[in-house]
Amino acid sequence: MQDVIVVEGGKSLFGEITVDTAKNAVLPIIAGCILTKKEVVLKNIPNISDINKMFEILSLMGADVKRDLRLKTASVKVEELTTVEIPSGLAKEIRSSIFMLGSLIARYKKARVTYPGGCDIGSRPIDLHLSGLRDLGVKITEDYGYIECDATAMHSGVVHLDFPSVGATENIMMSAVLLEGQTTIMNSAKEPEIIDLASFINSLGGKIRGAGTSTIVIEGVESLSGGEYTPIPDRIITGTYLIAGCMTQGSIKLNNARYQDVYALLNKLRNAGAKIDYDQKSISISINKRPLASASIDTQPFPGFPTDLQAQMLALQTISEGISIVTENLFETRFKQVPELLKMGAKITVKDRMAIVKGVSSLHGAEVVSYDLRGGASLVLAGLVADGVTKVFNPHFIDRGYEDFEQKLSMLGASVRREQAKP
Ligand code: EPZ
Repeated sequence: MQDVIVVEGGKSLFGEITVDTAKNAVLPIIAGCILTKKEVVLKNIPNISDINKMFEILSLMGADVKRDLRLKTASVKVEELTTVEIPSGLAKEIRSSIFMLGSLIARYKKARVTYPGGCDIGSRPIDLHLSGLRDLGVKITEDYGYIECDATAMHSGVVHLDFPSVGATENIMMSAVLLEGQTTIMNSAKEPEIIDLASFINSLGGKIRGAGTSTIVIEGVESLSGGEYTPIPDRIITGTYLIAGCMTQGSIKLNNARYQDVYALLNKLRNAGAKIDYDQKSISISINKRPLASASIDTQPFPGFPTDLQAQMLALQTISEGISIVTENLFETRFKQVPELLKMGAKITVKDRMAIVKGVSSLHGAEVVSYDLRGGASLVLAGLVADGVTKVFNPHFIDRGYEDFEQKLSMLGASVRREQAKP
């Protein structure tokens, strides 16, 4: 039986919640645990399916993983892996399985992995990962959908990325941590999760500098120690709730939120008419009138407007006053939720990577289907403001990146619950 999220629209959100730790920081950090034989204790780790699957992959490969879901801690000890092959079934389910390539190469000088899965938002190639590793002397063969890496002749050097890919930056960074000499990544991604991965590795004795800029330098070290680490808060969860507060004309405060990670969004929400306040640990938003449309939203690599907030921002535009042009520059099919929003009365025209949105004064509830993580979350947001009841099917996509999504929205005053869909 499948679940369905049921939303009764019309309630403004008020109150405060605490933001969970960032999925896209935890996932590469889990792969980074392969770089050391010693125990690593990760703290404040959310119980979401992508993270659970990543730990499962590590366990299946021979790591000792102990999770305490109540304390939200995970102890990981990779004394020895029993294989350097990432289990293909699970690897096909999550994009982040590919992050293990770099850490396996660093530690074992070899790896075997199938092409990764992940949200169906585009072709998701890994050519930049592979060309960067080849630039460092890794021999890579591909057959029958498997990628075989032989890093016995790997050497330090300079890798230039044609595009600042987050995953490629993370993979190449990890592959060089135990590599003799100095390796430089040019045109590297600058996302906060890259900085967090580098600070995690440095906390174990790694020597990485420049993370957060477009040039990262990794000095190879003999080995890493063990340690404890708490990854950064999730900027996409932060943005999702801020947008929900704006859409419902409420007033909410997010604790454990970093304004510097969502600056591009804060500007847009201020221009929409919202009052935004923040300090070092929290962000507040309040608005008591219909938001103004953002004339244009263009997704870019960090610090530009994040692609992972595009669907949520598009939902906001459907009920804002005016016309907005949303351009998705990172992924080729990230408007899958648009037909579902049209069922709710939204006025959107999609042309290639551009969605033109004419704000309407109200949406109406409907039965809608989520096809990916952020698109699914945006349908729940639309349901919060729609007249009547909205049912969002396939909420397992949302569970990939949001822990207790409906519970947290309910804590803020929304009328939202999960129930079993009638056959
Ligand atoms: C990471 O994916 C995130 N996932 C994505 O979040 C996020 O949308 C994306 O970065 C961009 O910020 C994780 O961190 C687990 P990329 P990743 O490599 O690493 C192209 C979410 O909702 N590209 O920066 O796969 C690619 O096709 C998820 O939490 C190549 O062409 O993103 C895309 O157009 C969705 N060749 C662009 O670069 C490559 O070898 C950005 O991809 C790699 C990427």
